[in-house]
Amino acid sequence: MCGIVGYIGGRDCADVLMDGLEKLEYRGYDSAGIAVFEKNARSPGGTISTVKTRGKLKCMADKLAAEGKPEGFCGIGHTRWATHGEPSDINSHPHSNGRVTIVHNGIIENYTELKEFLSEKGYSFVSQTDSEIVACLLDFYFDGSDPLRAIMETVKELRGSYALGILFKDFPDHVYATRKGSPLIVGLGDSEYFIASDIPAFLKYTKDYAILDDDEIVAIDNGGVKFFDVHGIAVKKQIHTADWDIEQAQKCGYPHYMLKEIYEQPDVVEKTLDSIITDGVPDFSGIGLTDELLRGVKRVFVVACGTAMHAGIVARYAVEKLARVPVAVEIASEFRYMDPIVGEDDLVILVSQSGETADTIASLELAKSRGAKTLAVVNVKYSAIARGADMCIHTLAGPEIAVASTKAYMVQITVLYALAFRFAYARGNILESEMKRLTAQLYNAPKAIRDVIDNKDECQFIASQLVNVETLFFIGRGFDYALSLEGSLKLKEITYIHSEAYAAGELKHGTISLIEHNIPVITVATQRNILAKTVSNMEEVKARGATIIAVCRKGTEFAEGTVDIELKLNIGDELDDMLIPLPTVCALQLIAYYTSVLRGIDPDKPRNLAKSVTTE
Ligand code: AGP
Repeated sequence: MCGIVGYIGGRDCADVLMDGLEKLEYRGYDSAGIAVFEKNARSPGGTISTVKTRGKLKCMADKLAAEGKPEGFCGIGHTRWATHGEPSDINSHPHSNGRVTIVHNGIIENYTELKEFLSEKGYSFVSQTDSEIVACLLDFYFDGSDPLRAIMETVKELRGSYALGILFKDFPDHVYATRKGSPLIVGLGDSEYFIASDIPAFLKYTKDYAILDDDEIVAIDNGGVKFFDVHGIAVKKQIHTADWDIEQAQKCGYPHYMLKEIYEQPDVVEKTLDSIITDGVPDFSGIGLTDELLRGVKRVFVVACGTAMHAGIVARYAVEKLARVPVAVEIASEFRYMDPIVGEDDLVILVSQSGETADTIASLELAKSRGAKTLAVVNVKYSAIARGADMCIHTLAGPEIAVASTKAYMVQITVLYALAFRFAYARGNILESEMKRLTAQLYNAPKAIRDVIDNKDECQFIASQLVNVETLFFIGRGFDYALSLEGSLKLKEITYIHSEAYAAGELKHGTISLIEHNIPVITVATQRNILAKTVSNMEEVKARGATIIAVCRKGTEFAEGTVDIELKLNIGDELDDMLIPLPTVCALQLIAYYTSVLRGIDPDKPRNLAKSVTTE
């Protein structure tokens, strides 16, 4: 949600900013802009040129071509995902009041009262944004000589979340930044420096970076980078080196990131497994998740949003089945406000690709404050959730750029299965031999996923049957229900087709009234112990005119006339039913992907969506 980039160095700043913004496009946005110190403005009172527009970066590029690109070596840029005020030229960032120019990611919750205060002081506003007041407040506190003090005074007044990139007109070739609750990192190159919402924005120039913590301020000029705490005391920061390479963050010949990321799944599952399996069994003792700790856990909560929450539902079925510990799966935006009964006997698992999702971060803080043990399952290293939890398992999906999460979900469920096995063993519910057998089965998943990809034509065919529908349903039971939820979310977010997922047995308690002639019902039917029940539910909707698309194992036979289209996964005994979600979800991802492409939608950047939801 919103992308920030800033640069100071020897390169053409506008080019670096535009390039960085392009790398942050995945975060979701509806307008963009840059502000650059003009190169001949290296004395106080210099000129900052701002170009901004509603629309995608192509609109920015056109505007820069038409109006002339600002020439300089220091500036800030922004992609805006509208919260306060419609997407428009005027609401786009950067915002300026003349002396101070800012870009902002987050929400200023007390902006109305601050606006009133500033209006009384004679400030006027041109946009409808909460962000513009930050530029004015900085100006109010700026005495003309001490930008650091102005920032310190300003952030004392702000409630909500923010990452801010700031230019002071009287301090040419200086970039300032601060943050609270929204991510911001500082890229450290060779005599050039960056601020950014995420690593890909500067990965081309440097892999070294420092993470700005909440309430910290960074001041950057050509001489280097200085970090300060909220009181203005200098702080020393740890330097990290990104272990991603530039190819991982590029399309590499694929038409879309989403397809590339689907294809990467077999490899990232293998890589992730190698990182958590020792001598043929899952071992998490290195992060403090010992058998003793697992034995003492009375309840498990999995707290997450969207696709990550769906991974939690798979975990619930696996952990309860094997370890016989009660598991509650909670939507993070609910958990944080529902005063949950959670305490020191509980293990709270926070699942997140980005590690920066605002509601999941707040849930982590809540769980910690209640004394629960917290475990993060996170893809982005050093992210807020990864650093905040007591223990962290890193999934090794690598950078996930497409808005629709695919490979991150795949490795989340891989890790959560492994955790379920260890949990069950630690509590004496399964023998070591069974833990080994299940772990060996997990290692069969990459081949099974590859097989689904090799047979993508079948998913393409199903997509061709869905391209013109207005509404559809996914149904399934048990693990198949968990998959239905994820398949449905994937499809609706990138195809804009209305889709709902139901536990197959629940449909007749109301929703079946919506089934009409030719409405597609995608039935996930991989769980053999309840197949007969699922088939009954298929019959019920078929009898009401639905078109049934069944996703099942090879060898599954349905009575003649029940199913209209079958997608039989080429999977035998190498995967227990419990583990079949791994290849099956890949088929559902491919169906969503091809349907999106056939409908002429860019699956990487679906409307209204942001990759990292850093505001609540
Ligand atoms: C899934 O395709 C979505 N992009 C979304 O539901 C996502 O999974 C959710 O916002 C959680 O994000 P996180 O994993 O980064 O916390």
